[in-house]
Amino acid sequence: MGKFQVLDHPLIQHKLTILRNKKTGTKAFREIANEIANLMAYEVTRDMPLEDITIETPVTKTTAKKLAGKKVAIVPILRAGIGMVDGILQLIPAAKVGHIGMYRDEETLVPHEYFVKLPADIDQRQVFVVDPMLATGGSAIMAIDALKKRGATNIKFVCLVSAPEGIKALREAHPDIDVYTAALDEGLNEDGYIVPGLGDAGDRLFGTR
Ligand code: URA
Repeated sequence: MGKFQVLDHPLIQHKLTILRNKKTGTKAFREIANEIANLMAYEVTRDMPLEDITIETPVTKTTAKKLAGKKVAIVPILRAGIGMVDGILQLIPAAKVGHIGMYRDEETLVPHEYFVKLPADIDQRQVFVVDPMLATGGSAIMAIDALKKRGATNIKFVCLVSAPEGIKALREAHPDIDVYTAALDEGLNEDGYIVPGLGDAGDRLFGTR
């Protein structure tokens, strides 16, 4: 079974409170969503493999650590996932970015895949699938299905706010992947929104309605 971690560092909790507040406008929401993603990336990359290399410091020859060449792909689920990409790229600037487009039928809440564009060597990469909200889990499950179908094997899912229903569904459908969230909320309301949540993450990021 993959890991499940709530990354509740005080800085993350503080910033998440600002996102949850309905008075927070688009500009601040966008900046802070990326700041949280940046802080999460620090934890999510904790188990990246290292290798020893020999270098010379100005003082002596020594053995030092270097990332062991595991290449990274960040894959936002469109469109709200885009709001986490820059924050992660700040820590992993050489990462490639794929995109998976999913939309949720507003009546049935069932997700549909409409766009998949990934790095050609996705099977060689450590993949971070990002989406701010894990509600029913439907989009995340389908996005990970799409990635596995194209050869990805090393996948982690990273979200800001999750509902227990979504965590359960995702871990049942994809028990092999690690799941990281900044907060585990109470549940879903009848409209499929996470409670207390932060509203529609895409609308709040992009200033739409
Ligand atoms: N998607 C969102 O943007 N917000 C929710 O609360 C649930 C799904």
